Amino acid sequence: MDIDERLQDYAEQVSSPHEPLLAELSDVTARELGSPQMLSGPVAGRLLELLVWIAQPRRVLEIGTFSGHGTLSMAAGLPPDGRIDTLELDAKRAAVAQSYFDRSPWANRITIHVGPAGESIDALEGEFDFVFLDADKTGYVDYYEAVVPRLSQHGLIAADNTLHGGGVLDDGDVIDAFNRHVAADPRTAQVLLTVRDGITLIRRV
Ligand SMILES: C[S@@+](CC[C@H](N)C(=O)[O-])C[C@H]1O[C@@H](n2cnc3c(N)ncnc32)[C@H](O)[C@@H]1O
Repeated sequence: MDIDERLQDYAEQVSSPHEPLLAELSDVTARELGSPQMLSGPVAGRLLELLVWIAQPRRVLEIGTFSGHGTLSMAAGLPPDGRIDTLELDAKRAAVAQSYFDRSPWANRITIHVGPAGESIDALEGEFDFVFLDADKTGYVDYYEAVVPRLSQHGLIAADNTLHGGGVLDDGDVIDAFNRHVAADPRTAQVLLTVRDGITLIRRV
């Protein structure tokens, strides 16, 4: 139950254009990795860039790299001392992402950690200023529980796919369970933006 495709196209037309490197990455992803719907894409990518630009995080955590479209979108909004740790299970996807990070101006500010995200989060030290949650949907509650206590005072979580293609309206949907878990959490305040497949912004109160 995505929004009308014509409106999606319209949103893309009137948002800042897709960066050429990211447009190339999107084509290469579709050809070499498949599952192009997993990419954050031009409109959600511009939203991530803008959120990072507003928040000015020194420490960004991305849970679920895929081919690095979201990572590079966020990197474009980073302050000069900002860094991104991005977590990916699949070594082939991580290799494609790394090859595009290397061609970007932000290669030395992005670190990919290959392996199960839960283990990578535990192995990282310190607080996070901005978290983009975008890995396996069955892990969302666990990732959320792992990062909420480690959010900095003005930290923000952006959780992707929180409409789950409309599946949230069905009984037993895993993302509906995540959304309701967050909504019932007295530690946080949140809003679900109906952008693309839904992006929920969450902060500590
Ligand atoms: C939706 S894609 C990420 C898209 C990316 N954030 C973007 O903006 O283009 C989800 C990614 O999470 C990865 N993933 C799935 N389970 C994982 C796990 N347990 N640990 C780390 N990464 C995982 C998948 O391999 C996939 O590449």
